[in-house]
Amino acid sequence: MTPPSGRVNLLVCDTPQAVAERAASLIERQVRAKPDSSLLVATGNTPMPTYAELARRKPKMSEVCAIQLDEYLGVSEHDPRSLYGWMERSFTRPLGVGRVLRFDAMSARPDAACAEHAAGIRTLGGIDLAILGLGPNGHLGFNEPPSDASAPTRPVVLSAASLLSNAPYWAPLAVPRQALTVGMDLILAARACLLIVTGEHKREVLGRMLEGPRTPQLPASYLQDAPLTVVADRAAC
Ligand code: GLP
Repeated sequence: MTPPSGRVNLLVCDTPQAVAERAASLIERQVRAKPDSSLLVATGNTPMPTYAELARRKPKMSEVCAIQLDEYLGVSEHDPRSLYGWMERSFTRPLGVGRVLRFDAMSARPDAACAEHAAGIRTLGGIDLAILGLGPNGHLGFNEPPSDASAPTRPVVLSAASLLSNAPYWAPLAVPRQALTVGMDLILAARACLLIVTGEHKREVLGRMLEGPRTPQLPASYLQDAPLTVVADRAAC
């Protein structure tokens, strides 16, 4: 697999554990270089071994600000299925992260809640490092196809593919149908992006994302023009 852009750095590791170690090293390097880094933090299964590896290493994160990437609309931060709760259990708490910027997913005005989250990110000076996973349909966060590079932070209706891929997080309940996501505009403006991809089930979408045309039908394809490092296992390549 040949990445198309000179800006994309593709690191292929033998195993998911090697991916976790490599990705953890990149995050560690970021927070050593800038202790008050703003990190956009994906949840989902893929980055969990990376966060566990980071928790073993315990870099100093007390000045870091963790920014929530996405959330189900109307799901409270106290709900264990909320993406906020997942970020708290896997990232902010075990790593001793000092500051958190989150969506108000219970707001009666989801548009205003998104505008507020985007304004908070801009007030921080943007995103130093965006830690991302790859949706099976090519989404980033919940930027569902079609989303172009200028898609803002906003409420979205989840696609059938995302309802399916998120079903294991919610079973036996149904996945909420709407969500809030940090926009493509802010993700692509990050000073660095780290995309973690593991497993054979992501191979086809990773190939199209790196080698295909940039298209709203595959939002992650716009990362080809971003300062991107992909850390992937052999199965995904
Ligand atoms: C989910 C989330 C994303 C996540 C992606 C991949 O739907 N909205 O933030 O990065 O899909 O999830 P996983 O790593 O479990 O495959």
